[in-house]
Amino acid sequence: MDLHTERLILAEFTWADLEEIHRLHCVPEVDEYNTLGIPANLEETREIMRPFIEAGNQQPQAKYAWGIEEKASGAFIGMAGMSLSNDRFRLGEIFYKLFPDYWGRGYATEVARKLITVGFEDLNLHKIEAGTDIENERSVRVLEKVGMNLEGLRRKILPIRGEWKDGYLYAIVEDDPRP
Ligand SMILES: CC(C)(COP(=O)(O)OP(=O)(O)OC[C@H]1O[C@@H](n2cnc3c(N)ncnc32)[C@H](O)[C@@H]1OP(=O)(O)O)[C@@H](O)C(=O)NCCC(=O)NCCS
Repeated sequence: MDLHTERLILAEFTWADLEEIHRLHCVPEVDEYNTLGIPANLEETREIMRPFIEAGNQQPQAKYAWGIEEKASGAFIGMAGMSLSNDRFRLGEIFYKLFPDYWGRGYATEVARKLITVGFEDLNLHKIEAGTDIENERSVRVLEKVGMNLEGLRRKILPIRGEWKDGYLYAIVEDDPRP
């Protein structure tokens, strides 16, 4: 599945993207609110990405990861992903992360909007969720801009650098307004 937005191309992750994804996960600002932590080496990143590659060979596909390319420059600027529940719940969970050089241009908002459209229109989802550290103000802002609603505060749910951090759960249902 290749997804285009006005300024970006999301292409399903392949092993050819591994080094870029590893570079992304090694950036301290990207890791700040990330439960994965900075990977020790490329092999650790490979194991993080393996379930996404394996999911691509399964039907129905329960996990997707995409590399994000900026159309204007052809640069690899980040990644996004979605995990799906079983068919009864029709629930998806999305995430996204960009290299800091590309923050503040509305790109994450453009990605999140596209994932929501794909989730509802192509993957037949009923509801799409996203979680974020409550201190991750940029991410909270993105979720609010795309019409996600705050459903709750999950206390001490995120293991981040040896601490349990509080997380917000945001979600949008298929018939909610999409600004
Ligand atoms: C979170 C992240 C994806 C945002 O990407 P982005 O492309 O900069 O997002 P956008 O430009 O679409 O929107 C960012 C919004 O946050 C706002 N913002 C920027 N810095 C901010 C700050 N310090 N505090 C509050 N809001 C801030 C921007 O003004 C913008 O809102 P606006 O359009 O109302 O002005 C990016 O910072 C990132 O990759 N972080 C690391 C990974 C991560 O945390 N991922 C989210 C978890 S799923």
